[in-house]
Amino acid sequence: MSENVTVVAVDGPAASGKSTVSRVLAKKLGYLYVDTGAMYRAITWKALEENIDVDDTIAVIAMMHRIKIDFELVDKQVRMLIDGVYPGSAIREPRVTGKVSTIAAIPEVRQVLVHHQRSLTKFGNLVMEGRDIGSVVFPDTPHKFYLEASPEVRAERRKRDLEAMEIPASQEGVKESLQLRDRKDSVRSASPLQIALGATVIENSHLSIEENANVILDHIRQQSLRRGSFSAGGA
Ligand code: CDP
Repeated sequence: MSENVTVVAVDGPAASGKSTVSRVLAKKLGYLYVDTGAMYRAITWKALEENIDVDDTIAVIAMMHRIKIDFELVDKQVRMLIDGVYPGSAIREPRVTGKVSTIAAIPEVRQVLVHHQRSLTKFGNLVMEGRDIGSVVFPDTPHKFYLEASPEVRAERRKRDLEAMEIPASQEGVKESLQLRDRKDSVRSASPLQIALGATVIENSHLSIEENANVILDHIRQQSLRRGSFSAGGA
């Protein structure tokens, strides 16, 4: 990590509130927001667009070598483009969600994306959320957080997200799909979902987005004051 750049790592299971909390936190800190799940989803979307069988690891790796990955900054958020295209909300469709954990378990896919994720410090201070940010992507950052919530609360949150996108969803169906993805993400051998060494665990079932972001902000302030290095703009 570049000397003067600060990275806040936010990890956790599916629908644990990482994206919403990280967006608010990034705004409060004046940092850029990076959603690494969106990157794994975009690769999955691209494979499906090309009619590649996601279980055909060789074909997926060949695609990774073929595509061109770029990044752009829009409203202080880092967006990934594949061959010049930003797939937008298509990456949230159930067909992508159903396959993303298979794609994310391929070490070669992770290697390429982790390389790009590390390079994003060139844009400035970051709040980066995902599954392996504190454990693998930026293990040296002192600011690591792991968000958790009960399966019921997570299913309810995801159901609401899907309904907002006009994708019909049942509470039980969503709960099952989250559990399946968490299991796949936790048991894979390449960078499994885990609580990074030194991470602060926050159970947020009963916290609002604002409260959760403020808990993190307080921790960052204390950690930085101890290190004599707090430099967040607007915080
Ligand atoms: O938003 P949600 O919690 O549904 O998941 P996401 O953050 O969009 O991530 C989608 C999937 O990408 C996860 O289920 C993981 O399989 C994978 N992922 C990962 O392996 N490593 C990351 N740093 C981020 C996401």
